[in-house]
Amino acid sequence: MIELTAAQVAAATGGRLSADPEVRVGGPVVVDSRRVAPGSLFVALPGEHVDGHDFAAGAVAAGATLVLAARELDVPCVVVDDVQTALGELARHVLATLRERGDLRVVAVTGSVGKTTTKDLLGQLLRPEGETVVPRGSFNNEIGLPLTVLEADESTRFLVLEMGASGVGHLTYLTRIAPPDVSVVLVVGSAHLGEFGGIEAVARAKSELVTGLAPGGVAVLNADDLRVAAMADVAPGEVVTFGTIPAADVRAEDLGIDRTGRASFTLRVRPGASDDATRGDGTSARVTLGLVGEHHVTNAMAAATAALRLGVALPDVAARLSDARALSPHRMQVTERPDGITVIDDSYNANPDSMRAALKALAVMAGRDRRSVAVLGEMLELGEDSRVAHDDIGRLVVRLNVKLLVVVGEGAGGIHDGATQEGSWGDETRFVPDVEAASALLRDELREGDVVLVKASNGSGLWRLGDELAAAGADAPGGDRA
Ligand SMILES: Nc1ncnc2c1ncn2[C@@H]1O[C@H](COP(=O)(O)OP(=O)(O)OP(=O)(O)O)[C@@H](O)[C@H]1O
Ligand SMILES: [Mg+2]
Repeated sequence: MIELTAAQVAAATGGRLSADPEVRVGGPVVVDSRRVAPGSLFVALPGEHVDGHDFAAGAVAAGATLVLAARELDVPCVVVDDVQTALGELARHVLATLRERGDLRVVAVTGSVGKTTTKDLLGQLLRPEGETVVPRGSFNNEIGLPLTVLEADESTRFLVLEMGASGVGHLTYLTRIAPPDVSVVLVVGSAHLGEFGGIEAVARAKSELVTGLAPGGVAVLNADDLRVAAMADVAPGEVVTFGTIPAADVRAEDLGIDRTGRASFTLRVRPGASDDATRGDGTSARVTLGLVGEHHVTNAMAAATAALRLGVALPDVAARLSDARALSPHRMQVTERPDGITVIDDSYNANPDSMRAALKALAVMAGRDRRSVAVLGEMLELGEDSRVAHDDIGRLVVRLNVKLLVVVGEGAGGIHDGATQEGSWGDETRFVPDVEAASALLRDELREGDVVLVKASNGSGLWRLGDELAAAGADAPGGDRA
């Protein structure tokens, strides 16, 4: 965060100053008083269960020098009508100031799936080039985004932002705070369909990342997704596309996937699509991903295209992509247990697209000689399509020849029904009511050689099972405890 006086914070937010105007804030801007550091600005947000204002005094005692609040408090504060809006205004102001001073570039990522993976990849591609700010976790909404922006300072060269939307207008709000120089749109899919009310509404909402570009900004679009490719029509300026089809500017060719579920491909760049395609060997380089699952090719191509456009040389892009690892937990996190069982923990979240992708990876990793086990819970937020979507996943499980399906929880029941109707029989499909029952069943069932996928929406709590399964097996005879 750049250093600001209380007076400047008040001016940026249109707030009323109730503090010494010369008081300085320079520490991190925080909404959680436990994260306060000396010089922090504490943002007192009203929460569902707690009110940030109740923690303001504690935050100041811990070192915060100023509080952004909706009412007068007994500590130095700037009082505004709406704290969340003021937080956005402050971020907008700070970013505009930083842009005037230096050569900061803003890269934003949106899409129905893959945002966090892609922003983590971008971080790994850009960091060697210069100071890079990347959001913590999935910070992608009207609070997490401005907090991320406020982490930037004079030394920041690249500000990577994840932008999420659960309705039309959300991305416009975020791009007004941080207009991107490069906007990356991954896929328009079925995540959060219930909230949006239809896939065309999702497409419209995601296109706001393109219409919200900064002047002279570049749209990086997925050529393989027709709804994303169509966003070229609303791009204010240059468009660069990525994908597997021949028309893509940055293309993945000769795609293969190995038995560990990792994809490799040749990254070929059409001359002109990169900021500097003349460095290194020119136009193509081989990439082997460290991430598990063929679906990550889309995310990797998106990150590569944005990085190329920002001036990273192709050989560096290829090398760094091959070295990149998953940085956020519970996303295709693979554990080889000492007892010979492989656990794929993808329990961070789930929707039909990511379920399909994870199940395909499971099938590839199990191959012909290992037993595949899918432990699946509910996909939330699907609205009226929910029943059919779960049923479809059950049928896919059977078609992929998954040997054991464990369906966890009432809400996921449709997966069990779909599998049963598609021809699964006997002990191949089991339904259990909750995580505890799943855990007990798997303790009995799992044996050496099994490949187990755990996946559900975050709210269904299957990540607890993911953690448990990944940690288990260390007591096996001959187990490696180092
Ligand atoms: N291109 C893709 N196609 C299908 N599934 C994907 C793709 N990219 C990521 N996934 C899967 O989707 C899940 C979420 O990935 P990630 O966290 O990167 O997405 P996100 O867009 O940030 O999600 P959220 O909206 O929850 O923030 C993971 O299970 C991941 O393996
Ligand atoms: Mg995310």
